[in-house]
Amino acid sequence: MYQQMQLITFLLPFLLLGCTEASRFSTSNTAKFVVNGSFIPDVSFEAGESYAGILPLGNDTNSNLFFWFWPNTDHTPREEIVIWLNGGLGCSSLGGLLKEHGAILWPSGLPALVRNPWSWHHISNIVYID
Ligand SMILES: *[C@@H]1O[C@H](CO)[C@@H](O)[C@H](O)[C@H]1NC(C)=O
Ligand SMILES: *[C@@H]1O[C@H](CO)[C@@H](O)[C@H](O)[C@H]1NC(C)=O
Repeated sequence: MYQQMQLITFLLPFLLLGCTEASRFSTSNTAKFVVNGSFIPDVSFEAGESYAGILPLGNDTNSNLFFWFWPNTDHTPREEIVIWLNGGLGCSSLGGLLKEHGAILWPSGLPALVRNPWSWHHISNIVYID
């Protein structure tokens, strides 16, 4: 599992493509973070709108945070956001996304990811931060 998460973390910068159609959070400022939901490795379905990338902490270019933001799919106007941080040393927050309550789940024993009908992004904006 750790290696799978490392692989996804490694691949994400290559998935950050241009703006997609009808994206609620797509602006000139967010364009570089758009994840092509049709083109995520081992995901055979359209995963929907999301944004991911690396953000620097202050002006120190050696300190960065990785994030993956999933907008709320409930289209009522809401400004709330869940900020998800997995606990424990060396525990990636992608564990929360891929193993617990994210839009795309990687259940143990399956070769590919599956859609999660109970994903928390159906009730709130959520950002997973490493
Ligand atoms: C997303 O990926 C699909 C599959 O590779 C591709 O057909 C589509 O053009 C891509 N969309 C964007 C906005 O790059
Ligand atoms: C980052 O650099 C800018 C430009 O030099 C400066 O205005 C700002 O205060 C710096 N921020 C921090 C957190 O050091």
